[in-house]
Amino acid sequence: MNHQKLAEFAIKSKSNSYSPYSKFRVGAALLTEEDKIITGCNIENASYGLTICAERTAIFKAYSEGERKFKAIAIASDDKNFCPPCGACRQIIWELCGDIDVILIDGNGNLKTFKASDLLPLPFGDENLKGGENG
Ligand code: THU
Repeated sequence: MNHQKLAEFAIKSKSNSYSPYSKFRVGAALLTEEDKIITGCNIENASYGLTICAERTAIFKAYSEGERKFKAIAIASDDKNFCPPCGACRQIIWELCGDIDVILIDGNGNLKTFKASDLLPLPFGDENLKGGENG
């Protein structure tokens, strides 16, 4: 499974976006170690803070189906610029997917790939919890 193919799944997933408030559609496609693709889109709510991003939809779907090992996630929006994952999603990607490839797709279909670790320097993780007084 190459990045281009995964990107096409992310682009297609935008069509399922429920984003009546921002009108900003986002699609994501997560690639498992066995080359299974799990897609996601952003899902908004009139109580804005309850919105879930496309990346987290895909990752939580994958976890709920028992998937644990991943190679890459592709993220697409309609914007002419790349849509980088928000801070919350970077934290979730790091903990639940590890140092995978994060493939961004702009509105013209150009791809740009980063490592999850490049997007989240000095991450907070389970190791940090072991140093606490009660750890
Ligand atoms: N959004 C995502 O789905 N992923 C991102 O990486 C950035 C933001 C969504 C959340 C919200 O529905 C809309 O984009 C505008 O913030």
